[in-house]
Amino acid sequence: MIRLEAVDVLAGDRVVLAPTSLELAEASVALVGPNGSGKSTLLRLLNGLVLPSHGRVHVDGDEPEHALAAVRRRVGFVFTDPDAQLVMPTAVEDVALSLRRTGVPRSERDARARELLAAQGLAALADRSVRELSSGQRQLLALTSVLATDPAVLVCDEPTTLLDLHHARRVADVLLAAPAQLVVATHDLDLAARTRRALWLDAGRVVADGAAADVVAAYRASAAS
Ligand SMILES: Nc1ncnc2c1ncn2[C@@H]1O[C@H](COP(=O)(O)OP(=O)(O)OP(=O)(O)O)[C@@H](O)[C@H]1O
Ligand SMILES: [Mg+2]
Repeated sequence: MIRLEAVDVLAGDRVVLAPTSLELAEASVALVGPNGSGKSTLLRLLNGLVLPSHGRVHVDGDEPEHALAAVRRRVGFVFTDPDAQLVMPTAVEDVALSLRRTGVPRSERDARARELLAAQGLAALADRSVRELSSGQRQLLALTSVLATDPAVLVCDEPTTLLDLHHARRVADVLLAAPAQLVVATHDLDLAARTRRALWLDAGRVVADGAAADVVAAYRASAAS
């Protein structure tokens, strides 16, 4: 359960996020809205990359401001550009590094990493250089590595933006099937519509909040007018 209590984010005299209170308990939540509306800011509050100017953020009872390490262990973050998070030379080593962080014994990491890659249909990429992979393959790999840490919450900032339709669909399938609570900011309205609940942000405010299908339809209609 994610809870924001009267949270705002100010940058000088600029309001990046107006005072916002909400609880997110659904298995999947999308944030939609135009560029600069505050989606990434709201996501970054959830793992302490941005701190509230006022108010409190709780992630499963912990506040990022006061329990950063605990929150970061439970919140996996997926960025638009997988290169921001792939650090090892090969795919299998990248997943194995995540397993190290979660305490899987060294002797088991390689086999377990291969299993996790195979489960995402990436077995053939295991020993390939990360640099040789396409951006779609790299995003699937980044997601596999984050999921290997068994996060309770999966926060994704436009994870399908750089991908073709096929890979965007595959990434969306993996996100929606993940056992973690998903919070995803996206301009990919097909992905947003597949979540349970959507928040529409505009100029730092939540202007609509409800069943994803309804909110996304209203947002599409506003963009078309
Ligand atoms: N640290 C900061 N200092 C000043 N302004 C900031 C800061 N962080 C964000 N902003 C501004 O706040 C607004 C919201 O930014 P944010 O990145 O959250 O938007 P977004 O909805 O994710 O946009 P996009 O769809 O383009 O990713 C933008 O106008 C941005 O320039
Ligand atoms: Mg953003």
